[in-house]
Amino acid sequence: MAALITMPRLMSVGGGALAELPALMARLGLKHPLVVTDPYIARCGILDRATGLLDKAQIPFTVFSDTVSDPTTEVIETGVAILRDGGFDSLVAIGGGSSIDTAKGMSVLFANGGQMRDYKVPAEIPQLGPPIIAIPTTAGTGSEATRYTIVTDEETEEKMLCIGLAYLPIAALVDFELSMTKPMRLTADTGVDSLTHAIEAYVSRRANAFSDSFAVSAMRAIWTNLPSAYFEPHNREAREAMMLAATQAGIAFSNSSVALVHGMSRPIGAKFHVPHGMSNAMLLPAVTEFSISAAVERYAQCARVMGMVPADSADDEAVAALVRNLHQLNRDLKVPTPAEFGIERPAWDESIPSMVRQALASGSPANNPRVPSENEIEELYREIWR
Ligand SMILES: [Fe+2]
Repeated sequence: MAALITMPRLMSVGGGALAELPALMARLGLKHPLVVTDPYIARCGILDRATGLLDKAQIPFTVFSDTVSDPTTEVIETGVAILRDGGFDSLVAIGGGSSIDTAKGMSVLFANGGQMRDYKVPAEIPQLGPPIIAIPTTAGTGSEATRYTIVTDEETEEKMLCIGLAYLPIAALVDFELSMTKPMRLTADTGVDSLTHAIEAYVSRRANAFSDSFAVSAMRAIWTNLPSAYFEPHNREAREAMMLAATQAGIAFSNSSVALVHGMSRPIGAKFHVPHGMSNAMLLPAVTEFSISAAVERYAQCARVMGMVPADSADDEAVAALVRNLHQLNRDLKVPTPAEFGIERPAWDESIPSMVRQALASGSPANNPRVPSENEIEELYREIWR
């Protein structure tokens, strides 16, 4: 079967790419953006650099800098109200996945009306909204290159997965220099998120030759460079490699899928406010171990690609090394267990039934090489409790 592939129409990739913003807007015929970002980016100087470029090019704009981590339906509705009043022809989203995901939600809700929960999977999105130019400042979600957004429904405490062409940015400026000041914890969490995207895209039931090429390239680069980016924050080569790999991993999963780790991770984030990449990390070794039997060759190849074992090693040796190394990565990156994060055991146990329900409803577990039953998801949640 042919794979249907989607990517941004234009990307500028490399150090200093931010400076291309006005030229890129001109190429796309966009003249009046709403700039969407978070309070940190507004404070740290990155927003000023972007708006300085727009000022210099005499492009009128407005800034909406109230996005929050793990975007909520409420913040998106506030953003849509600004879009409605302003006569904007585009959105420029600057920040981590949360700001980009917020802009995606705003674009879709503005064009289609209703409520954000009307557009969670498996809903179709009837109308494309105003185009989005995405400028990531963390090497993580890959949201700049995906047709995914994640929005938390505050009423139901659900992290809703929304998928469709309408969420795909028209353009991305991928400038690793914007990620140089990322703190260690954020470097670790966003890096593991990217790694999870690459691995899940590669083992997914929706994997294809196109997504494989991006997944392989991303996982190799992430495995080599994540420790350097984490332990040596000023290492430009490592930061550059991680930023490129995050975008590649985004392209990989957007054209394949994520799987069980993400399916189980979103409910942990929604219930206990664990950062997305960190809850992925809590799950990745156990879910990998659970899934290997259904795709031994694929998982073995992951270990070989990442250099955990020699290229000619046997499958069983390779998959054992994969699980061992993923556990070790969590120790190296000081990923807390759920208990160390501060989650109480009774609250965890009590939440398991609703987390299982939300995980299944997202559809992601169905893309896993080993499709889990409800009971198996429940057992995995119990297993990762420490
Ligand atoms: Fe993710």
